[in-house]
Amino acid sequence: MTQAPMTQAPMTHVRPLRSTATGAIRGGIRVPGDKSISHRSLMLGAVAVGETVIHGLLEGEDVLHTAAAMRLLGAEAERNDEGVWRVRGVGLGALAEPAQVLDMGNSGTAARLLIGLVAGHPITCVFTGDASLNKRPMARVTKPLEEMGARFVGRSGGRLPLTVVGSGELVPITYRLPVASAQVKSAILLAGLNTAGATTVIEAEPTRDHTELMLRHFGATVTTERLADGALAVTVIGQPELTGRTIHVPADPSSAAFPVVAALLRPGSDLLLNDVGMNPRRTGLYDTLVEMGADIAFENRRDQAGEPVADLRVRHSALKGIVVPADRAPSMIDEYPVLAAAAACAEGTTVMLGLKELRVKESDRLAMVAEGLTRCGVSVEVGADDSLTVHGTGKPPKGGATVATAMDHRIAMSFLVLGMATEQPVSVDDGAFIDTSFPGFVGLMNGLGAAIVEA
Ligand code: S3P
Repeated sequence: MTQAPMTQAPMTHVRPLRSTATGAIRGGIRVPGDKSISHRSLMLGAVAVGETVIHGLLEGEDVLHTAAAMRLLGAEAERNDEGVWRVRGVGLGALAEPAQVLDMGNSGTAARLLIGLVAGHPITCVFTGDASLNKRPMARVTKPLEEMGARFVGRSGGRLPLTVVGSGELVPITYRLPVASAQVKSAILLAGLNTAGATTVIEAEPTRDHTELMLRHFGATVTTERLADGALAVTVIGQPELTGRTIHVPADPSSAAFPVVAALLRPGSDLLLNDVGMNPRRTGLYDTLVEMGADIAFENRRDQAGEPVADLRVRHSALKGIVVPADRAPSMIDEYPVLAAAAACAEGTTVMLGLKELRVKESDRLAMVAEGLTRCGVSVEVGADDSLTVHGTGKPPKGGATVATAMDHRIAMSFLVLGMATEQPVSVDDGAFIDTSFPGFVGLMNGLGAAIVEA
């Protein structure tokens, strides 16, 4: 079946869900493809010459918005009957001016990376998103892109809806990231792609490097250099020949986190997760869970098209509270909500430091997690330094509450996982946004032994 071109955000209906504790989590699964890698494969495939074949693309709504946008920019991006995606690229510098608004739905990654890519093209594009995305800060990308010569008309803070006036004659810059953000780094590198000369991004803390790895895979020259102060300088040489490639998208470690934590919390569990991406810039949650006492075996480690992967064997474990250092945040930035659910069931106090960036995700995740846990009878504190302290007792939290999700897929999934381990069921007010990153989540979890139902 061929995917119909999609130009509008799909209609989402409110979908309250309830999760009740059941038996063990057992079985073997592969969670859907990595969201970060899926977005990048469509974008780079669209500016390469020739065909890019993508196996295991995440078919969540966020990525489908990227596919739709790449079509509006002139590329072909279709799914064939076997679920393999083929992208026919237009070549670097040749993206077409879209005749319609680019609707990026709920996805900050799609919006920020694509704003960077089109900024380096002589076209004008209008970006918008849903109510969550249109609240999120975009000045973090528009500021450096303006320094390169692109122009923007947006709302305050550069927020969407935003018009990008791109240019084929940007000037390369060297930019030190003020926040640890792979999205900002990637936006600048993608703008530098069609810019003559060397564009450099300096990051004090290493963030996920999928853009760098994939740019190399498509034929670009990307170098990294450790500076005297320990920061990393990442440089892309502009105007390379990009050639269509084959890509195998690993299973998303950020999605795997939900069944992993569920298996750790449920007595008798024994779960196998195949092909999970193990890029070291993404595995902070796994390091943290192991420090808490989790029994996770990383089997069959191998490389898959430039990205490390492994099969994970997870067994029920008694977890203990720990301190999670701030410098680990970039490698587990999306995993704090589900870690907080694990910490609520652990014995002792877990302190998570350096969570400021959680405030500007799909929701204010720091506030949403604290509020939801409190409703479920868990004792938590949010520090003035944007830390989160969760006091676990080693016994099941009370639960028995409905938690607000604020259009945030990971808040919804995290509290459904918590509900698998609480005395009374936990409900979420809306699970519809789970489809942005983890289509089929409810069926897959129930197939492993969970009891998640429409509320
Ligand atoms: C992403 C980077 C992270 C992460 C997001 C995906 C990416 O955002 O939260 O889900 O694919 O580059 P920041 O880099 O802004 O922290």
